[in-house]
Amino acid sequence: MRIWKTTAEWTIHRRTISGPTIGFVPTMGALHRGHASLVERCRAENDITVVSIFVNPSQFNEAKDLDRYPRPLDCDLALLDRLQVDDVLLPEAKDLYPHGYRFRIEADSLTKEMEASHRPGFLQGVMTVVLKLLNLVRADRAYFGEKDYQQLRTIAAMVEEFFIPTEIVPCATIREPSGLAESSRNALLSADARQKAAAIYRALTTSNNLQQAESLLQAEGLQVDYVEEHWGRRFAAAFLEGVRLIDNVPIAERK
Ligand code: PAF
Repeated sequence: MRIWKTTAEWTIHRRTISGPTIGFVPTMGALHRGHASLVERCRAENDITVVSIFVNPSQFNEAKDLDRYPRPLDCDLALLDRLQVDDVLLPEAKDLYPHGYRFRIEADSLTKEMEASHRPGFLQGVMTVVLKLLNLVRADRAYFGEKDYQQLRTIAAMVEEFFIPTEIVPCATIREPSGLAESSRNALLSADARQKAAAIYRALTTSNNLQQAESLLQAEGLQVDYVEEHWGRRFAAAFLEGVRLIDNVPIAERK
């Protein structure tokens, strides 16, 4: 497994690849089974698998959230090695943003709901860094999890709008046996909270309406940020022990 710590070194290496297909999994590290499933699919569908690990400051709207984001780099690299990843990009912020946050991608009227209104700057930060990474990797395919469905949808629209020749591949959410969606933020929860957090999936899948889902979350001690329905899916964001968790399911999957 090759590790590239600078965009300059990676770019020189990238010029030598022509012919084999490249699949790309962008991540912020703290890798879990959800990431592993993206990597496995990527490996199955491409000749070369590239993973990036970059905790992107521009998508955090709270300094505290950025500071405490888990960064278990050695474990992440060991996992990627076991998964037989070919190339890992580990750029530093000053390399990806050499002039600070000089340009950013703005989604105009595309998406104003949920993360767009509850986390100002989040989607701009994601799209801007993903555009940079897609341009650096120039992959045939890039893999994104459906847990971050609004992010996935916005990225797919951006890629289409800017004629980026990378296919965006949506991948199903991976869950713990309790139903809790795999997320890097789960590592910040106590064992007790991790049990309680399964209420998000239960609320999404068993409630008859949004009000009932919200009440169920509150009854379990979660502080609700939103419960909404869009694009044939039901979404929730809620805080537990100060950790913000999100999830969504197709409305058709309601039990
Ligand atoms: O989903 C994530 O981990 C991040 O938002 C992404 C897509 C890697 C951009 O920083």
